[in-house]
Amino acid sequence: PTALAGRHFLKELDFTEAEFRGLVELAAELKAAKKAGTETPYLRGRNIALIFEKTSTRTRCAFEVAAADQGAHTTYLEPSGSQIGHKESVRDTARVLGRMYDAIEYRGDSQAKVEELAAYAGVPVYNGLTDDWHPTQMLADVLTMTEHCAKPLGEIAFAYLGDARFNMGNSYLVTGALLGMDVRIVAPKSYWPAQEILDRARALAGSSGARITLTEDIAEGVRGADFVATDVWVSMGEPKEVWAERITALAPYAVTMDVLRATGNPDVRFLHCLPAFHDLGTAVGQQIFEAHGLDSLEVTDEVFESAHSVVFDEAENRLHTIKAVLVATLARETLA
Ligand code: CP
Ligand code: NVA
Repeated sequence: PTALAGRHFLKELDFTEAEFRGLVELAAELKAAKKAGTETPYLRGRNIALIFEKTSTRTRCAFEVAAADQGAHTTYLEPSGSQIGHKESVRDTARVLGRMYDAIEYRGDSQAKVEELAAYAGVPVYNGLTDDWHPTQMLADVLTMTEHCAKPLGEIAFAYLGDARFNMGNSYLVTGALLGMDVRIVAPKSYWPAQEILDRARALAGSSGARITLTEDIAEGVRGADFVATDVWVSMGEPKEVWAERITALAPYAVTMDVLRATGNPDVRFLHCLPAFHDLGTAVGQQIFEAHGLDSLEVTDEVFESAHSVVFDEAENRLHTIKAVLVATLARETLA
């Protein structure tokens, strides 16, 4: 078993800086092995339950393919596909699934639910996104940063533009703080992370050497950045009525070519966890664009489709990094 055997992954702060970096390194090794056709299956005979109370493309598929590549089996429980939260408590569900499965992934709204699952399951529980955190996404983002920037992690600067009060903003802030990075949160003040999260990030920065900037000023926030990241302005589970308010507040913070130019870095890269509203490619996007007279939201099509954009590397890296979490927490044997 590895040093992380049996551990939960409920939020980034469950791991030390060394453990988090170790997972990113393991993911890079697993990625190389898969590409070379030399992957060793460490998870034969393991069974993993995937509970999704919200929809997903990347996270679900990454867990399923990662498990299959490693010889494990998964059961997908769709948003309306189990008794959880309707006819059966989280606590009882945890105790039932913990008897049958070796690990459980959970995506839903409240962080308290995934913490409760972990408290009662008796097996590792992984957070596949809650309203508060998206920790598996952060492993993929950090792996992508290491692939697209030659600097050591501690010298990388990234700016997150948009609603920073939700999962992606919180996760970027604490991950950058944990890893000693130069983190800039660029948003209207009312969209900055909660004080409690900021306090935790500042405490981490004290030991990691991270630099943390929160600013409303785009030019100041992105200057010298190696990466510019954003996320949808309205997240899953939020009512569509909030679009008008978000567009008014966040439109100046949309990632445009001007924003990338303002970094002063010709090699700046663009990150987005996806899904993204950057063109008329989806029915939902079309409705929002038409209702508000826009043709893009958090990122322009020009940026999204440009050579700066590494969003599909980032999406692919969900697979390799989630595989690293599974292998690190569930492998029976010591890794070769
Ligand atoms: N980035 C991400 O979590 O995507 P899905 O919602 O498709 O899983
Ligand atoms: N903030 C987004 C992230 C999607 C991966 C949401 O919660 O919907």
